[in-house]
Amino acid sequence: MQKVLAQAGVASRRQVERLIAEGRVTVNGEKVSVMGTKVSSGDAICVDGALIERSDKLYYYLLNKPVGVVTTARDPQGRSTVVEIMQGVPARVYPVGRLDFDTAGLLVMTNDGELAHRLMHPSYGVEKTYRVWVHGPVGINALEQLRQGVNLSDGKTAPAKVVRRSGLQQRRTVAVDQKSDSFEVLEVTIHEGKNRQVRRMLGAVGYPVVKLERIAFGPLNQERQLLPGNYRSLTKEEVQKLRALVGLT
Ligand code: URA
Repeated sequence: MQKVLAQAGVASRRQVERLIAEGRVTVNGEKVSVMGTKVSSGDAICVDGALIERSDKLYYYLLNKPVGVVTTARDPQGRSTVVEIMQGVPARVYPVGRLDFDTAGLLVMTNDGELAHRLMHPSYGVEKTYRVWVHGPVGINALEQLRQGVNLSDGKTAPAKVVRRSGLQQRRTVAVDQKSDSFEVLEVTIHEGKNRQVRRMLGAVGYPVVKLERIAFGPLNQERQLLPGNYRSLTKEEVQKLRALVGLT
């Protein structure tokens, strides 16, 4: 039971145990009180009266999210969503974590709720790398602050890995403001998931982000060059690597 509910994305195994203890889970209309109750695929499992959707098969995709798409299943403002982009796949898959509306890049989409929960949980410290465009040149003090941790309103960030990816690049268009005429590209690796973390970190050290793209999620990267708006299935090896990363075998 715990495994089935965790895999359906209801909650982590431990949270499912709490739901059972609180008497909120039923199987075929009967309240479940025993941990580890066996269930089969035909059983109707409900949490708080709501039927849990189950898919027998697990699907894993890597999407290159374009800018201008929200990372939720539904958007009250009617903007397009990552779930809509994935409409052609055989099961309903959900995003593992979030990318902002104005951030592009790699996003894992799956119906494996247990893996998704773990990949998102900060205790597993899954690394995410972002390519960041800012108005440069970036001072050495700012780089050092990012590497040591930056004070944000919701606490200090853990040390980040930061590398310069390019020197200053001149924009082709002529800008009136000379300061905004050039920008620098950094690669920033973090393993937390605070809201708008990279944007806030860079803003806090004096370099507001101009453009942001996630180029790696754990062992997954852009080696196979996925274009924005495109997705592909993860290989067996990639799924195994993701599972191993969060203690699932
Ligand atoms: N950090 C951000 O600021 N935005 C994202 O979308 C992801 C990380």
